[in-house]
Amino acid sequence: MPRSTEKRPIITDINPKSPISEAYRTLRTNIEFSAVDEQLKVIMLTSAGPGEGKSTTATNLAVAYAQTNKKVLIMDADLRKSTMHHTFLKTNRSGLTNILVGQMTWEQAVQPTDIPNLDLLTAGPVPPNPSELLASQRMSALLEELKGHYDIVIVDTPPVLVVTDAQVLSTKCDGVVLVIDSGKVKREVAMKAKSNLDHVKVRILGVVLNNLDRKNGGSYYYYYYGGDR
Ligand SMILES: Nc1ncnc2c1ncn2[C@@H]1O[C@H](COP(=O)(O)OP(=O)(O)OP(=O)(O)O)[C@@H](O)[C@H]1O
Ligand SMILES: [Mg+2]
Repeated sequence: MPRSTEKRPIITDINPKSPISEAYRTLRTNIEFSAVDEQLKVIMLTSAGPGEGKSTTATNLAVAYAQTNKKVLIMDADLRKSTMHHTFLKTNRSGLTNILVGQMTWEQAVQPTDIPNLDLLTAGPVPPNPSELLASQRMSALLEELKGHYDIVIVDTPPVLVVTDAQVLSTKCDGVVLVIDSGKVKREVAMKAKSNLDHVKVRILGVVLNNLDRKNGGSYYYYYYGGDR
């Protein structure tokens, strides 16, 4: 089965009492504590390379926030390999790209999910120029508007070392969480991703070590490191 149509159960939704869900809540708490006195509304998730768990972490973090009765939007800004519509079983006929080219308002493009307090903005049709769209003035204006409407906006992006999209977008977000598959990604590669983000002076809120342990039936562990500034 192609990965894009794989079932993507959301553990924080279906099993909120599990230790894994608890770990996502801890991630949420750590992020909250990392910015006590500042406004931290738009949080971007990225990683060095593909398949490290960005979208999974983004989804569960968004659900963990929604479970605290915050009004949350999850935005699929991975315009090249979008998955959020599969995760939430929604249509991707229109989404972020339609807003960025001026065809729709965000109110028209956002869809409610089955999870209380959580709305979804899917990626929309694949554009020829994803980086340009994400770098646009319209994208900045959109995030500003969304901040006025939501308590938290979680942004899923492509890998930093593969395309420039995440780096470009990070400058428009309040903070970035770097997801690292500790079983797969070498230290130098992770450091390179971090230095690319440091280069554009984004605030790295922390690092999630995601380690898919396939041998033990697909369970996994992660650990969160608070970011230095
Ligand atoms: N912690 C985890 N436990 C179990 N499965 C996981 C975990 N993290 C990721 N996966 C699985 O690994 C695959 C890749 O994860 P995901 O799509 O979240 O990564 P990604 O970094 O968003 O990938 P891409 O670069 O393709 O966007 C998915 O099938 C996902 O269900
Ligand atoms: Mg992804």
